[in-house]
Amino acid sequence: MDTTTKTAVVAGGTGGIGEGVVQAFLSAGYCVYVPVREKDPSERLKAFVHNPAGLRFLPADLGDDLAVLAMRDRILEEVPEIDAVVVSVGAGYWGYRLHKMPRTDWDDSIQDNLATHFNVQRVFIDQLRRQNSGTFITLVGPEAEHIRPDAGMVSIMAAAQKMMTRVLAEESSDTSVRVHAVTVHTTIHTRSRGENTNREWITARDLGEYVAALVAERVPGCDRALHDLKDHWQLQSILHPG
Ligand SMILES: NC(=O)c1ccc[n+]([C@@H]2O[C@H](COP(=O)([O-])OP(=O)(O)OC[C@H]3O[C@@H](n4cnc5c(N)ncnc54)[C@H](OP(=O)(O)O)[C@@H]3O)[C@@H](O)[C@H]2O)c1
Repeated sequence: MDTTTKTAVVAGGTGGIGEGVVQAFLSAGYCVYVPVREKDPSERLKAFVHNPAGLRFLPADLGDDLAVLAMRDRILEEVPEIDAVVVSVGAGYWGYRLHKMPRTDWDDSIQDNLATHFNVQRVFIDQLRRQNSGTFITLVGPEAEHIRPDAGMVSIMAAAQKMMTRVLAEESSDTSVRVHAVTVHTTIHTRSRGENTNREWITARDLGEYVAALVAERVPGCDRALHDLKDHWQLQSILHPG
């Protein structure tokens, strides 16, 4: 690999939102590493991106801390440094009041939404600190700040992911590592949603472009931990000013 090629890790790159982030980094010329679980959705992602040459899949269940460590080591066998780490990982548990939530769903939600984020943060923030460079971004849904009845756990998990990222940002302020939580306040239009019926919605591709631009310090407020994307039009005005 060309030693000037930049490297991104997209945890959750196999997901509807994550694939837009993967595409944006590939378009910007990055080599992009995506962890895949046993149920291997890599073919679906390969079919989505225009230019899969820089795409690398590594087996890793993000809920397994040793697997995440092994993934980092495999990446560092191929590249000297990691420039960007983006986390778009999670699963929604809803359909009941919080006090009626089955205990098994509670445990699974903690595993899918928090243990995964913790494992990725622990391993990759440590690496970025060692390099004293790089950007770490967590993508957060609007539920972090709003409550919907019968979907309270989605809000609890999103709020916790956001606070974890704020803590990391605060604790990284003595380094050159940048940490951001990007909250998107609309539904994100992904492939699985079919046709985009709401023009306010931000698309996964546009969100990906924003993430790549934030890493490249091409959007306002790159020194801020918290970024809020309100709707399609606000995002377009940031990506294409004037
Ligand atoms: N405005 C919004 O709606 C918004 C904005 C930003 C972020 N978010 C949040 O972003 C996350 C991703 O959303 P999405 O629509 O892309 O969902 P998705 O299509 O279901 O993708 C979820 C991703 O998380 C991974 N994942 C889930 N549980 C995991 C586990 N235990 N171990 C390893 N990987 C796991 C999945 O891996 P597999 O492919 O292996 O299943 C997949 O890559 C969600 O938590 C969502 O709430 C939402």
